Amino acid sequence: MATPLIIDTDPGVDDAFAIALAARSPEVDLRALTTVFGNVGLELTTANALRLLAHLKRTDVPVVKGSPGPGGAADVHGEDGLGGQAHTLPENPESVKSEDVVQFFADHLTPDTVVAAIGPLTNIAKALDAGIMFPRLVVMGGGLGIGNMTLRAEFNFWADAEAARTVIRKGNPIVVPLNLTQRCIADTAFLANVDPVLSNLTGTYREYLAANPDQNHSDRPEGILVHDAVAVAEAIVPGTLQLRTHGLDIDDEGALVEGKHQVEVAEDCDWPALRAFMEQRLSV
Ligand code: BDR
Ligand code: CA
Repeated sequence: MATPLIIDTDPGVDDAFAIALAARSPEVDLRALTTVFGNVGLELTTANALRLLAHLKRTDVPVVKGSPGPGGAADVHGEDGLGGQAHTLPENPESVKSEDVVQFFADHLTPDTVVAAIGPLTNIAKALDAGIMFPRLVVMGGGLGIGNMTLRAEFNFWADAEAARTVIRKGNPIVVPLNLTQRCIADTAFLANVDPVLSNLTGTYREYLAANPDQNHSDRPEGILVHDAVAVAEAIVPGTLQLRTHGLDIDDEGALVEGKHQVEVAEDCDWPALRAFMEQRLSV
C-alpha cells in the first residue's frame, strides 16, 4: 500500500521538481501540500503549489496555507518563485483549504504518514510546539560547516533559525543537508529529458548558478541543484540516502553546529542511480 505523504513547501523551482517526483511515484499517496514563506512570500508559494498540482493533474490534493514571512530567494527562483514562468502553469480550480496548518497536521497525521519539509521550518515547529509528533520527518536543510546564505547557514534553516532549532531538538528529523544536495546536479542533459514544463521553470536558476560559481564547485556542469527532490526521494523510497547519526544543534544564525541532539543526517547517495530514478519519474 502506498505511504501517505505530506509535503511542506515553498515553491520554488527545486520544490516543483520534488512535488512532481512525489505526484508521479506510486510508492506514495500525496495527501496534501502545506505551504510556507521562503523562496518568495506565502501568497506566491501557495499560488505556485496550486498551479503545480493543476499541471500534474492532481487538483484532488489539498493545499493548506501555512506561515507567512518574507521571500528571500527571488534571485535564484525568480520574482514569482518559478523562474518567471508560473503563468505557464494552468490555473487550479480548487482553492486553498481554510484550515489552520497546525490543526491540519493534528487532524491528518496517521502513524504511517511521512512528512517532507522542503522550506523554512516554521509550520513544522509550530506543530511540534503544539505537541504534534511526526512519525517520519524528512527535512531538506542545513549544511555541515557550509552554507548558501552565509558561509555557515543554509537557506531553509537561516530563514527561521528558531524553528530549525525546534525541529533539530524535538522533531527527530532525517536531515538532508547541502553537503549532499550540492552534489546532486540536474544537468542540461537531464533537463532535456524530463517534462519540458518543469525544465522551462529553470532558466533563472541556471543563470544564477552560472553567474555565481561556488568556489568548491567551479567545475560544476550547467544545470540546477535539485536539493528538495533529493529529500523527497528519501521520503518516497526509504534507504535511497545513506544516513549517519550526528550530535547537532542550531546556532542563532541558523547554522547547523555540533551539539547534544542526536540527528540522522544524509551523507551520501548513489547519485547516478538517483538521477536515473528522477529522470524516469519526471519524464512525460
Ligand atoms: C533550499 O533553499 C531553497 O531555496 C530551495 O528550495 C531549497 O529548499 C536549498 O538551500
Ligand atoms: Ca524549498
